Amino acid sequence: MKALYFESFGSSDVLQYGELPEPVIANKELLVQMEYIGLNYADIYRRKGNYHIEKHIPYINGYEGVGTVVEIGTAVAEYEVGDKVLFVDVPFANAELVAVPEEKAIRVPKTIDIQLIASIGLQGLTADFLAHDLGLNGKDENVFVHGISGGVGQILSQMLTADGVKVYGVTSTEEKQQLALNQGAEMVFVRNSGWESEYHSFFDTVYDGVGSTLLESTSLLKNRGKVVFFGMAGGNPPAIDFIQLLSQSKSILTGDLWDYLTSANQRKERSARLFKYFEEEKIVTSPPTIYALKEGKQAHEHLESGKSIGKILLQPS
Ligand SMILES: NC(=O)c1ccc[n+]([C@@H]2O[C@H](COP(=O)([O-])OP(=O)(O)OC[C@H]3O[C@@H](n4cnc5c(N)ncnc54)[C@H](OP(=O)(O)O)[C@@H]3O)[C@@H](O)[C@H]2O)c1
Repeated sequence: MKALYFESFGSSDVLQYGELPEPVIANKELLVQMEYIGLNYADIYRRKGNYHIEKHIPYINGYEGVGTVVEIGTAVAEYEVGDKVLFVDVPFANAELVAVPEEKAIRVPKTIDIQLIASIGLQGLTADFLAHDLGLNGKDENVFVHGISGGVGQILSQMLTADGVKVYGVTSTEEKQQLALNQGAEMVFVRNSGWESEYHSFFDTVYDGVGSTLLESTSLLKNRGKVVFFGMAGGNPPAIDFIQLLSQSKSILTGDLWDYLTSANQRKERSARLFKYFEEEKIVTSPPTIYALKEGKQAHEHLESGKSIGKILLQPS
């Protein structure tokens, strides 16, 4: 099979495309022929050697995608050849064929287009746990989303708006600002335009997946507010003075999707809750940017440039 792989950590130059042995499935695994593979920020951290990655010679990146089951293990109970599945936490996804443990497969509903499912799987399930396990915002609370027009940002902001929460955010360009406003945000600021001074101590919750903005996030909070810190797309967070936080009863929560996808049932319930927003058209995301799997290097560079809007997908030829 063809795969995108690398032998040492580094810049996008380490990525290679070529022939590797096909995976051999175990009793409780499905062999999935990939249609779309999700590219995520974590894949950049992994390629650089800054994040956990499954051992494999050579390394094969990627944990997310959709495809068709082409073979099943002898002990598989719930799936058949021909079924369409999504997965968001299975290694070695940057390949034509992936061995997917049955409990990690999520059945693709017939009500949603497969390309849309591929575009919203990991980022959507992330938005879901950020909103419904960590943020837990009540109606009419004011929340702020950094990178509001990013993949997680678009889904999170519309999910919160649909839940009755008032959403504000910041982004880098007027084009992305307009996108977030069209998706229902109350107010969206353009970065470095001096908006911050009016909003100190205003928000109940700040969702921060940018990282380098963490200090600013704490100052946007009102007393007893919370930052939900979930990523470092803009660089590592600065040191935080916890004594100062304590004096204002402010909190910082963190979370990793994989700690919320702990069983087949959790995957089923959480994805059903996510898909409902799309079935009811409460969330509409911008179309994905699609690269051929062999153009993985360009796809990584596009994601790292900060110029992408929404999801980047890789497509095996
Ligand atoms: N904890 C988890 O389980 C989990 C799961 C999935 C993703 N994540 C994290 O969530 C974050 C967003 O992921 P994503 O898939 O939505 O990526 P994405 O689509 O590329 O969005 C990232 C956003 O971050 C903003 N950004 C990038 N660099 C910035 C900078 N220097 N300063 C301010 N904003 C900056 C960009 O917004 P502008 O263009 O407007 O600047 C961009 O839209 C990442 O940190 C990722 O690692 C965490």
